[in-house]
Amino acid sequence: MSTASSKQRDILVTSALPYANGPIHLGHLLEYIQTDIWVRYQKMRGQNCYYVCADDAHGTAIMLRAEREGITSEQLIDRIRGEHQQDFAGFHIRFDNYYSTHSEENQYFAEYIYRQLQENGHIATRRITQFFDPEKEMFLADRFIKGTCPKCKAEDQYGDNCEACGATYTPAELINPRSAVSGATPVEKESEHYFFRLPEFHDFLSKWTRSGALQPQVANKLAEWLDAGLQEWDISRDAPYFGFEIPDAPGKYFYVWLDAPIGYLASFKNLCNRENIDFEHFWKADSDAEVYHFIGKDIINFHALFWPSMLHDAGFRTPTAVWAHGFVTVNGKKMSKSRGTFIMARTYLDHLNPEYLRYYFAAKLTGGVDDMDLNLEDFASRVNSDLVGKVVNIASRSAGFISKTFKGQLGAITEPDLIQRFVDAGDDISELYEKREFGRAMRRIMELADEANQYFDEKQPWTLPKKAALAGNEVEKAKDPALGDREEILNELQAICTNAINMFRLLMTYLAPVLPETAKASEAFLSAKLDWNGREAHLENHEINKFRPLMNRVDMEHIEKMLEASKEELPVATGKQAPSKDLEPIAEEIEFNDFAKVDLRVAKIIKAEHVEGADKLLRLTLDIGHGERNVFAGIKSAYKPEDLEGRMTVMVANLKARKMKFGMSEGMVLAAGPGGKDIFLLSPDSGAAPGMRVM
Ligand code: 2FM
Ligand code: ZN
Repeated sequence: MSTASSKQRDILVTSALPYANGPIHLGHLLEYIQTDIWVRYQKMRGQNCYYVCADDAHGTAIMLRAEREGITSEQLIDRIRGEHQQDFAGFHIRFDNYYSTHSEENQYFAEYIYRQLQENGHIATRRITQFFDPEKEMFLADRFIKGTCPKCKAEDQYGDNCEACGATYTPAELINPRSAVSGATPVEKESEHYFFRLPEFHDFLSKWTRSGALQPQVANKLAEWLDAGLQEWDISRDAPYFGFEIPDAPGKYFYVWLDAPIGYLASFKNLCNRENIDFEHFWKADSDAEVYHFIGKDIINFHALFWPSMLHDAGFRTPTAVWAHGFVTVNGKKMSKSRGTFIMARTYLDHLNPEYLRYYFAAKLTGGVDDMDLNLEDFASRVNSDLVGKVVNIASRSAGFISKTFKGQLGAITEPDLIQRFVDAGDDISELYEKREFGRAMRRIMELADEANQYFDEKQPWTLPKKAALAGNEVEKAKDPALGDREEILNELQAICTNAINMFRLLMTYLAPVLPETAKASEAFLSAKLDWNGREAHLENHEINKFRPLMNRVDMEHIEKMLEASKEELPVATGKQAPSKDLEPIAEEIEFNDFAKVDLRVAKIIKAEHVEGADKLLRLTLDIGHGERNVFAGIKSAYKPEDLEGRMTVMVANLKARKMKFGMSEGMVLAAGPGGKDIFLLSPDSGAAPGMRVM
């Protein structure tokens, strides 16, 4: 029996902490949506479940970005945290606490854990040599060094791998290395670093990784790493660094990845203090509470090697499980700014209902680490056919009769077996939610929705009002006694709709973790709670409210607009941005003929103006010899309008005019890093004149 209540479980759940230096995008959202669905499911079943998260606030990238913006790191992380929280709320991600790793609690736990590791003899120090920026006076991580690829000689490649040929190397192998922060030539410099002695945890990890805490594919990967041998982990960074100073080690800071997972403890501790929850009970070594971390597959090493070892060494319990998911692609490809598929949470919310995405992700999620493709046509058709066409449809088809003919009053259930099958299915669906097999859960729910619609179609209730009217008419009745009894016909109509509404209620109960807002609206419509554990208490002789459309169809046009808006947000490379490993790959090869279609012309900027309400765009009036063009260019971060007037640039002159948010854009100017005057503008004495063809 489904409602047999066993002991309430104590569960703590986390999602990975997003960096406080950039906006949330659809790639992030897969994880928060997956976790939120799982947590909502647990809460609905009555478990004592907490969901905590935080911004991952430390590190060089954040420090440098704040510097570029002319604000303090603290100001930057406060602002970004606010933005993140808004984005999450927009997608109905319901954290019990959303905190920051730059917090008192986190500093306390980072120091506490570090001291435990040190006391246990698991911290080593030694001097290492690294590249150093003599101008900025800071050590440079690989991704802050650029130079020419030693293999294919492509210029401007990052310090650890080449985007052009795929070679991997050390920054020392780069030809002409330079600091991506200042442009200076880096020098080699020694300093003392602190290491966590991970190899000493080999036996512990061999056991832990096989304890059921990891998905089978992940456990196999870990076994390979363990066989290959573990390395000591460098947990310190030299000043200047935005983070926590290491106790008794002036000028040395904890590496951001040391205190990031500790942020899980800190956020939970902060919640415990506020709500009087017993922190110890969840985190003591022999705790019988459950702790789960949802993460992306790219950060498995931190969560399945370092983190459990640190916890174990410091006397805390280890996670019950770490669950990894795959990466998001859009229309089968890596998210891309030029295709408009690098979609920010905010941009999505400006155009589409968050529950569409929650459902689509749920419908395709498994408990494994497979990548997730967001195919936008499939997205629209699945949401439309499943949610609007199947689930909401049942309610809208039945509700009209109930409100019109029966003043909102439901009758008695006349298909107890059918409805019992819906109730029983809840047990299978529970199991699927529990195992994070959301896709299979959604399919099971849609099978039930099909059954409900079939039932409705077979019964043809829409024929009954007319039949009832005829049966109620003395003259007609006298002509055809087979017309039956009006009262009975109406009872039948009411019963069919009552059965259907009860099926709808069960469907929405099972969908509630995925569609919290539609669930809420359904509760208002049904005038009843969607209560999973109490789902056998059906609605009979109960008054419901007037039906209001619960969800609109996805409109392809809105999707197009979202892609268009995502393209507009493409920032121009200024060379001052922190280099990201996330550089877009070179686009698909094209034929010379395709390239030859592009008509590049020298253009003179005759006017450059700010665009009201646009953060990144300038409006340019260009003289291209063949008249004037109005073009919006995303170069505001790199140029002041007054510096542009009178200068020459290169534009794509035969690009079809596009309607943008702020007006028509008739062409496109070409811009490339490092900004300033170097590439985007032609030098005044280059001999270039408006209209000249660029080859
Ligand atoms: O990869 C990332 O985006 C990290 N900020 C995740 C940190 S997860 C946890 F360890 F804090
Ligand atoms: Zn190369």
